[in-house]
Amino acid sequence: MSTAVYPGSFDPITNGHLDIIWRASKLVEKLYVAVLVNRSKKYMFTAEERVNFIKESVKDIHNIEVVSYDGLLVDFCREKGANAIFKGLRAITDYEIEVQMALMNKRLENDVETVLLVSAVDHSFISSSIIKEVAFYGGDIAGLVPEHVKDAIIEKWRNKD
Ligand code: PNS
Repeated sequence: MSTAVYPGSFDPITNGHLDIIWRASKLVEKLYVAVLVNRSKKYMFTAEERVNFIKESVKDIHNIEVVSYDGLLVDFCREKGANAIFKGLRAITDYEIEVQMALMNKRLENDVETVLLVSAVDHSFISSSIIKEVAFYGGDIAGLVPEHVKDAIIEKWRNKD
């Protein structure tokens, strides 16, 4: 059985992430969407909230499981018997960090391959951080994130002192 992982911070999930999830899920029998910890980031949403946003967004795709994990991505892959990691590549700016992570993950676990999927043009400018910033200043983020995520971002900013 072909099993793969699509990892990320997903703080929160965007329509760009969802496009990659949808395309990756068609290439394997089982896809884990893993909410992992990126030590260089501070999160707006808890891991549980981020998992729930994704679960709600992918409930119609039947070969997907959404989980959170605090540890090395390659250890998660070993635990789940996954031999591929999917990542989205939006622009050349993503390339450097993605190659760095792919080479480190390969060094840690030679049997796990990183597969880079090029983001759809419509999504190549979307990032969770830019969406949160636009929403903070009252800009329109409709169509860039699922509706339930849009509402949660707006609510979060509203309740921030
Ligand atoms: O969405 P992000 O923040 O770009 O995702 C980065 C993430 C979470 C996939 C990366 O930081 C990660 O894999 N974290 C888990 C810990 C780990 O394995 N670190 C070494 C990566 S080379």
